[in-house]
Amino acid sequence: MVTEKLTASPEDIAKAGEILRRGGLVALPTETVYGLAANALDPQAVLKIFAAKGRPADNPLIVHVLTVDQWRDLVKGELPPKALALAEKFWPGPLTVILPKADRVPLETSGGLLTVAVRCPSHPAARAVIEAAGLPLAAPSANLSGRPSPTTFAHTYEELSGRVDAVLDGGDCRVGLESTVISLLGGVPRVLRPGGVTVEELRAVLGEVDVDPAVSGALREGERAASPGMKYKHYAPKAPVQVVDASPEEFVSFVNERREEGAFALCWEEEREGLLVPAVSLGPRYDRKAQARALFSSLLRLDGLGAKTVYAQRPSRAGMGLAVYNRLLRAAGFQVLTPREGFVLGLTGPSGAGKTLIAQELCKQGFLWIDCDRLTRRDDVYDEETLRSLREAFGEEVAPEFRLDRRELARRAFRDEASVKRLGEITFPPIARRVREEIERAGEGAKIVLDAPTLFPSGLDRICRRILAVTAPEELRLRRVMERDGLTEAQARERFQAQEPESFYGDRADLVLENAGGSVKELLAGWEAGL
Ligand code: TXA
Ligand code: MG
Repeated sequence: MVTEKLTASPEDIAKAGEILRRGGLVALPTETVYGLAANALDPQAVLKIFAAKGRPADNPLIVHVLTVDQWRDLVKGELPPKALALAEKFWPGPLTVILPKADRVPLETSGGLLTVAVRCPSHPAARAVIEAAGLPLAAPSANLSGRPSPTTFAHTYEELSGRVDAVLDGGDCRVGLESTVISLLGGVPRVLRPGGVTVEELRAVLGEVDVDPAVSGALREGERAASPGMKYKHYAPKAPVQVVDASPEEFVSFVNERREEGAFALCWEEEREGLLVPAVSLGPRYDRKAQARALFSSLLRLDGLGAKTVYAQRPSRAGMGLAVYNRLLRAAGFQVLTPREGFVLGLTGPSGAGKTLIAQELCKQGFLWIDCDRLTRRDDVYDEETLRSLREAFGEEVAPEFRLDRRELARRAFRDEASVKRLGEITFPPIARRVREEIERAGEGAKIVLDAPTLFPSGLDRICRRILAVTAPEELRLRRVMERDGLTEAQARERFQAQEPESFYGDRADLVLENAGGSVKELLAGWEAGL
């Protein structure tokens, strides 16, 4: 079969619609990944998708529609209020909803199930083709079964040329990995596949939302997958991938010790510089959307670069990170390496949130506590050179006779943003040295909680395998700080002005605990599972 290349021009869109009405196959862009489309209501057309992809027949397809009315025609009974609420908030967009199917949806489309997965894409070319075809379109990702999903026209054409009628070029996909699949079949809504809409966003609309255990782990022998697509090894490039569960710093040293022929690192931008093996970056460490966008195209690029082994940094499971983690885990066939037994858990958050209480509770769970606030209050924390730099930057009065006057230093250094930055540049390195000494002293297997309000600006996040942030409502924090440090309200508010907003922590931490004043033990219940 000769595969035609189409553009997003009106003539080509019309042609794509024509091919689909005739029962043919068209690969087309969506905002998530490229999809391989056919008429969802025609069993013969749908079977061609399974043949072209080499897809197991029990793996159901997602049906793409333009309107809620079109959706209504595909499901049995009424659309429940939760379904309508989701469509209202997230459609058009990367969310797929599972409900009981109407009889007119063939079992070929639903993989033999009595349910149907439906989504409404936002990509203009996908929408134009659905419109032109005048049909709901079944469209799985446009990869051969088991391979990474293509997110560019070039990758899609390479994958499917000779197997489908046409591939439509609509540029690169914005989200970069597939839609979130949520089941509304009964009880608590359940995420079967994390994707372009985060679990946190779903909870904001639906309240309670479960995440299927298969999302973060392999199915055990004999276990049934709620989402058939999640049971297969998937998304794999040619080279074996191993996920390395380590701090950024440990990741770099681990990979640098294993410089075998053909070894590649798949890492965050910040780690690239220190690596001695060729590296492909997925984007900045805390930009999880960028990581999602780059994941599949990077896996396919590694094929092109001739990678023989890929060592990948473990993605965070927060926000969009969960989808990146889920795909990478499958690309690795669930191979996760943990180079070091002990680890450092970073603990941070705005003042008055309750870091100390959390650290104390973690000590009861066997953690060793390194308290950066206490470290900086030690008389010998700064050497002479540091004190000299402080005097140069802020005046001799901050350390008369080379003895630190903390009050004076605080008064001068917290004056404005530039001074705070300068203070950090001078004091972070000696503090980090102290922290490293303490970690060294604790030994290989120690579990350490590193309690540091300035974890991120100091760069100490580099040594943490996981990061926990504690936040609390501002008024509550204000009262706690006034009481604890003997400040007036005005003084406390002034101190808060210099602090990062809560979203700063939410964007970076692996888990955020909102400490509204209840029992800390309860707050921490099951926290490890959340990481
Ligand atoms: O973003 C996306 O969703 C892309 C684009 C092309 O729209 N499509 C996509 O389709 O990822 P596919 O076939 O590669 O993945 C569909 C996933 C599979 O894991 C499948 O098992 C699950 O959705 N699924 C589909 N229908 C289901 C159903 N009725 N019950 C449970 N899982 C279902
Ligand atoms: Mg797929």
